[in-house]
Amino acid sequence: MERITTVAAMRAFGRVSRAAGRRIGLVPTMGALHRGHLSLIERARSECDAVVVSIYVNPLQFGPKEDFRAYPRDLERDQGLLRSSGTDALFVPEHEEIHVPGHRTRVEVQGMQDVLCGRSRPGHFRGVATVVAKLFAIVRPDIACFGEKDAQQLRIIRRMALDLHDETQIISCPTVREEDGLALSSRNTYLTPEERRAAPVLYRALRSAAASGRAGETDAARLVSLARDTIAREPLARLDYVEAVDGETLEPVATAGAGTLLAVAAWFGRARLIDNISF
Ligand code: PAJ
Repeated sequence: MERITTVAAMRAFGRVSRAAGRRIGLVPTMGALHRGHLSLIERARSECDAVVVSIYVNPLQFGPKEDFRAYPRDLERDQGLLRSSGTDALFVPEHEEIHVPGHRTRVEVQGMQDVLCGRSRPGHFRGVATVVAKLFAIVRPDIACFGEKDAQQLRIIRRMALDLHDETQIISCPTVREEDGLALSSRNTYLTPEERRAAPVLYRALRSAAASGRAGETDAARLVSLARDTIAREPLARLDYVEAVDGETLEPVATAGAGTLLAVAAWFGRARLIDNISF
């Protein structure tokens, strides 16, 4: 596995790979790798000859009161995991390599960036879209893999690639979960043992609402309140939102059905966790 720290070297890797006729797969991450990330790498591996994993904790996507400083960083451990994962190149750029001195450009995906998580995290998706657009420009991958766990992020990146005529094929990968249903997340490390025991309530709430949906309940408001009630019974959960939206545009729906996305965010202590389910 090659460890690349500069944009110039990353571009050179891309150039050589393309010249050799290799398909390049990119998996953008912020490190603190877990089985969720590894499933994305496996998917990229299965479709590509050259797998690039980026690790970059992007300050642009953290709000002033968010966990940029506290975000878990352990490059040694991550490198160990990557070495046995079939990764060809690990891209770990310094801040100034990605956001060059004097940078002024931001990528906005209007509307989609302001709903759901965008409401309580203003500027977050602008930061995400901006850094992913830069990674696409540097690596020029054939495909890029993103997790369904971050459903809004995935939709926004899809829309961005479409709007910018970026040919990168965006691949969505299923959410990897613990046995009790909790979606794997780097932020799960913030949970106390009690909060960790409480956190699976999110997926339980989504599952029972989705089951009602599949059993014929089409009133989106009723499905949302079903999920909300389940979460309200867990004293350690502080709900941010539950919403039923169109699975592509993220616009709210009144009638739920195939293609509806039910999304949730809640605080457990200092951890803000998200999850979602598709009908
Ligand atoms: P990060 O949170 O490290 O996630 C990197 C990728 O792993 C994302 O596509 C995310 O959806 C996926 N992922 C996380 N948990 C997962 C799980 N349990 N199952 C499947 N996939 C999972 O998302 C980011 O980083 C950043 O916003 C980034 C896209 C790198 C831009 O900075």
